[in-house]
Amino acid sequence: MVIVRMKPVRAAAAEAFREIFGREATALARAPGRVEFIGNHTDYNGGSVLGAAIDRHVTVAAARSEQRRLRLFTKDGPAVLELPSDQATRVTGSDAWANYPLGVWRALADFQLPRPEGFDLYVSANLPSGAGLSSSAALELAVALVLLKIAGRDRIDPATLAQVGRHAENHYVGVPCGILDQGTIAHARAGQLVRIDCQGPVFSLVPFPEQAALWVFNTREKHALVDGLYAERHRECQQAAQLLGVNWLCDLRPAERPVWEAQLPALLARRVRHVVDENDRVRRVSDALGAGNLAETGRILVESHRSSQHNFENSTPALDALVDQLANERGVYGARLTGGGFGGAVVALAAPEFTRQAAQRIGERHAQVHGLQPEILELHAADGAALLELG
Ligand code: GLA
Repeated sequence: MVIVRMKPVRAAAAEAFREIFGREATALARAPGRVEFIGNHTDYNGGSVLGAAIDRHVTVAAARSEQRRLRLFTKDGPAVLELPSDQATRVTGSDAWANYPLGVWRALADFQLPRPEGFDLYVSANLPSGAGLSSSAALELAVALVLLKIAGRDRIDPATLAQVGRHAENHYVGVPCGILDQGTIAHARAGQLVRIDCQGPVFSLVPFPEQAALWVFNTREKHALVDGLYAERHRECQQAAQLLGVNWLCDLRPAERPVWEAQLPALLARRVRHVVDENDRVRRVSDALGAGNLAETGRILVESHRSSQHNFENSTPALDALVDQLANERGVYGARLTGGGFGGAVVALAAPEFTRQAAQRIGERHAQVHGLQPEILELHAADGAALLELG
């Protein structure tokens, strides 16, 4: 695990912690958000993905408490949430964000890892939530690092860290996500994409092309049913795998499509087509990046989006419109929705000649039709989750 020196973040979070809890924090961690570069809904179907951590973060400060009590505060929240340790189960309403840290605390016990019996915890972020950039996985991993640290453990291998976060989300938040978000955030390195072959899972790094830029256009559109729709797609994939008698949809070959399509109802056949072709697109993008072919990479990103739009049906008119604009823009190689879908953000791969003015023009045109001005971020592939020094 890397220990990073970062004065401004350290000072601000430690100071806020002191103000709120009237004592000193003893652990500090920072975890980045992520973009899904390619590999849409392939992770829980036994396929591959390419993701990158981004230079927007969740920061968490904590201290152990000798009382069996958990106190949690988020910078955007109204008040400190306080729970006795033996009643730390599910919370609802404006406290629902706390299900992530509480889930991690419970997951640590499930993994037989050390955890404090009481703690105070402070969270801040410069990462938009609900944008498909995985603020929830970032929160999970930063929380896991500080809780382990205040329980006396300042090292954990990234694969276990990722599994703890995923377990918290699957079992205690209730979202049946795959390993993409937590795996990327745990393993990321600046200037690299993280490749995950999810059946292992096996993690490796692939250089992000130096001469390319990564832009995110967050529609700010949040679908109220996002988690429910994600779970519905997950169920559809499981149902299709069952009908076809395979463990993983990504073990099916694109060339055998007529065989498996004949065994499925039309809707499930479309879902499977997306997953199987998408997994192949991860392979093709890896090859194109290896050959330094950014134009081809961009074309495959747009293909991925079209498949989301028509086959997996996890896009929205606002996401489609942004991809349409970006795909026709000079200096943009390609663009696609990133993450679960049903709202959130588009990621674009661009040449350095694509400027902020051009991005803003696209944003303004988008706002005229869709009402909402997208949040535009130029991002860099960043380092993964890490403890920070407190001084
Ligand atoms: C969300 C999930 C991931 C993955 C993507 C879609 O981000 O958390 O596990 O399934 O959607 O690829």
